[in-house]
Amino acid sequence: MSAPSLPFGPDFPWLAPLAGYTDLPFRLLCREQGAAVACTEMVSARGLVYGARRGRGGDGGTRSLLATRPPDAPLVVQLFGAEADFLAEAVRMLLDEGFAWFDLNLGCPAPKVARTGAGAALLRNPRRALDCARAMIAAAPPGRVGCKLRLGWDRPVFAELGKALEDAGAGWLSLHPRFACQGFSGMVRTEALSELAGALSLPVLASGDLLTAREGADRLRTGAAGVLFARGALADPTIFSRYRRILRGEEASSPLPPGALRALILRHLELAEKFSPRPADGRNPGLLKMRSVVPRYIRHLAGAKQLRQDVIRCGSWEHLRRLVEEFFRL
Ligand SMILES: Cc1cc2nc3c(=O)[nH]c(=O)nc-3n(C[C@H](O)[C@H](O)[C@H](O)COP(=O)(O)O)c2cc1C
Repeated sequence: MSAPSLPFGPDFPWLAPLAGYTDLPFRLLCREQGAAVACTEMVSARGLVYGARRGRGGDGGTRSLLATRPPDAPLVVQLFGAEADFLAEAVRMLLDEGFAWFDLNLGCPAPKVARTGAGAALLRNPRRALDCARAMIAAAPPGRVGCKLRLGWDRPVFAELGKALEDAGAGWLSLHPRFACQGFSGMVRTEALSELAGALSLPVLASGDLLTAREGADRLRTGAAGVLFARGALADPTIFSRYRRILRGEEASSPLPPGALRALILRHLELAEKFSPRPADGRNPGLLKMRSVVPRYIRHLAGAKQLRQDVIRCGSWEHLRRLVEEFFRL
């Protein structure tokens, strides 16, 4: 199946994979703000394959992570797993369903993932990491598979592994230049990004501590082909448009004026109401999620604490919208 190529370059900021957050509504919101590519939350290769074997095309939770719509393109599906066979089968299944781009998670240090040998735990066993990547690459047309890695678990493997991944046919690499054992502590080693980007001819994307648009623009000095915004996009999805403005030499005012913030939150609510899953049992997981997302957007404003308390009791989209409107009327 042919697919247009993914956009790489300074002018094409990506939305990084963020478990629990980069669902369809949030991806659409970020695209409206200028994200050129978006990644799904990490998806279990094993969960997908077992679900399909049971005849449900993947268990419900795993499946809902793959919800998408035509404007949600280009979309990179991030897979995690430690077994080459499952990863390859997951890629084949997803290709059959029309997904085109895939990423192998080599960076998640969360115990739930690392305990199974997946995510950043694969950096303790670079040969296995390479086998997993090779299996995915072999299952897809050329250039469709990237890998997102850290420097290593607790010692650097990124340079050697990065070269081996390039030789294996990876289409791009993303590097969060911290060790997995650091979590989010300590400084990112931007010199590692320069080293990797300088050594390889495939695009190397920068991740890590890009919390503002300015930090994204500055990180291009490492020679990275482009940037992935993660926590910066969660705090303020307009980071993409601000970043693009900075690259054009324009001012990117900060913080977002209240009127624009109100419009952004209401738009996120609109997308969430329209595109969140609606389980048959009457639960409303989209609304529950937005009850925690909304207070995050306004956490720096007076009255944030009260709104956080109010949204806990909120039982409908209409009620949540009204609370937001009232908050900004004060
Ligand atoms: C809540 C959260 C969830 C994340 N989920 C994933 C994930 O599913 N896959 C992945 O490769 N990285 C994941 N990451 C890592 C981010 O994609 C990114 O590499 C990291 O946050 C560093 O960038 P930042 O400092 O600019 O946020 C996650 C990070 C956070 C904070």
